[in-house]
Amino acid sequence: MESPRMIILLILTTLLALCACSSAQKNSDFLECLTIQFQSSNSAPDGVIYTPRNASYASLLLAQNQRLVPTSSERPELIITPFHESEIQAAVYCSRKLGMQIRVRSGGHDYEGLSYNSENPFVIVDMRNIRSISIDIDEKTAWVQVGATLGQLYHTLARKSKTLAFTAGVCPPVGVGGHFSGGGYGMMSRKHALASDNIIDAKLINANGQVLDRKSMGEELFWAIRGGGGTSFGIVLAFKVKLVIVPEIVTVFNVSRTLEQNATQLVHRWQYIADKVDENLLLRLFLSSIRSPIHGNRTIQASFTTLFLGRVHELLPIMQDSFPELGLVEQDCIEMSWIESTLFFAGLRNESLDVLLIRTPQTGIYFKGKSDYVRRPIPIQGLRGIWRFLNEEVENTAQLQFSPYGGVLNTFSESETPFPHRSGNIFMIHYGIFWTRGGNAESERHINWIRRLYSYMGRYVSRSPRAAYFNYRDLDLGRNAGRNTSYEQASVWGFRYFKNNFNRLVRVKSMVDPSNFFRNEQSIPPLS
Ligand code: FDA
Repeated sequence: MESPRMIILLILTTLLALCACSSAQKNSDFLECLTIQFQSSNSAPDGVIYTPRNASYASLLLAQNQRLVPTSSERPELIITPFHESEIQAAVYCSRKLGMQIRVRSGGHDYEGLSYNSENPFVIVDMRNIRSISIDIDEKTAWVQVGATLGQLYHTLARKSKTLAFTAGVCPPVGVGGHFSGGGYGMMSRKHALASDNIIDAKLINANGQVLDRKSMGEELFWAIRGGGGTSFGIVLAFKVKLVIVPEIVTVFNVSRTLEQNATQLVHRWQYIADKVDENLLLRLFLSSIRSPIHGNRTIQASFTTLFLGRVHELLPIMQDSFPELGLVEQDCIEMSWIESTLFFAGLRNESLDVLLIRTPQTGIYFKGKSDYVRRPIPIQGLRGIWRFLNEEVENTAQLQFSPYGGVLNTFSESETPFPHRSGNIFMIHYGIFWTRGGNAESERHINWIRRLYSYMGRYVSRSPRAAYFNYRDLDLGRNAGRNTSYEQASVWGFRYFKNNFNRLVRVKSMVDPSNFFRNEQSIPPLS
């Protein structure tokens, strides 16, 4: 007679074997379906479909954030790296037919790894090969395919023109697909708004596998994918964007001050001018705890990292007028071309322009980020509380970014696009914590730190809702549970990212994808 423990073990083992078997069966059914679909459109599966048995599978799965590297049981059944839209259509068709989830990855920089992780059996459609960029100099527009990176876009623009540029983020390997569809804030955002504000057309594959452009998708869906994220609505293939004109010479500086150099008062004062100064000027603030080179003790360093769309002789009087306390002098400033400034802000100064084309993720770094919006200046005592938190972590591993708003961002109504963080916001806070040693205890300690800091900051930031930036995705704000997403559940995080635009996003989702084919832990739910 078997003991009850043995019986339970036997049942579990049988269930596991059945699961593994059905997953393997699903996998081979999917492969077969794809192969048939590929044959009918004259595509070759070689170099497009990767199973865990392929040598390149592991390198394709390399993640930007070590915290989110899928474990062996969480890996995708297949990775598909299409070259043609027909191959994506085939993936949509087969995954609908076989009930397999799709995760779309463009640059792979999702803060919670939702483009390459899933609790359910899934395939990754990795857009890295769909990355061409075509620029129309006369029209001052560009069609940018989603697998291109920001660095590739900047590089391509610089080779065509000295004065045409685009307004988007500072990190070159970030992908166009996720970044543009979720917002896209960068060093020119006070003058030229967000990447998503400059989208004028798009190509997308919907849940029925149809390829749509702005005209055929209609204005509601086109509205949704300009800040509401592409992921809930389809697979975006490309965006057409308005380019912006920049002066041939711009000015940058990065001036740092420690507590001993009056950093607290400077940061406090900065909050009164950052969103109001000339819109050609974006004074971003980076805060971290460092070891003082003078006395060797820990101190806080505030780095004012700035782009001015003009020459130094124009900048100095503006700074003297608006922020004389910083004591900026000509020697602090560097004049350069806009493309050189993209290298400067990416920490790649003096590198060749081709470094912008590198897309391999930096591995081995664990990371967790969060965001907040500030509508009233944080008082001095509030800043001192932040300093205490920063000093708790090892120097240079925790960082806060204060990104100023105002300027042209104020001229958009909250509902013009799904991105609602417009007039009334002084700045956005990005909280980041990085570590390099694995292990649950280590991770828990750092994640706990950032959650405690976030809880402390509650009294100083926006309320009802406590707003957050969708592109700094944070699953702490809530998540959909499984397939049966609910409006109530998603409202918890949906209103924080999108305010009242959340309701319109839900209506669009219900219209274009009522069966909730495109879904993830923070996708927009359809009304059931
Ligand atoms: P990824 O491929 O991981 O996609 C992100 C999300 O979009 C996923 O849900 C994915 O499924 C979906 N998606 C991707 N491609 C899609 C497509 N073609 N169709 C439909 N859905 C698609 N932000 C910012 O505003 N300014 C900045 O300066 C920076 N800097 C920065 C630096 C670093 C190091 C990181 C990790 C992140 C940033 N970000 C940022 C945040 C960044 O904008 C955000 O993570 C983007 O979603 C990344 O887009 P990717 O395509 O790289 O990500």
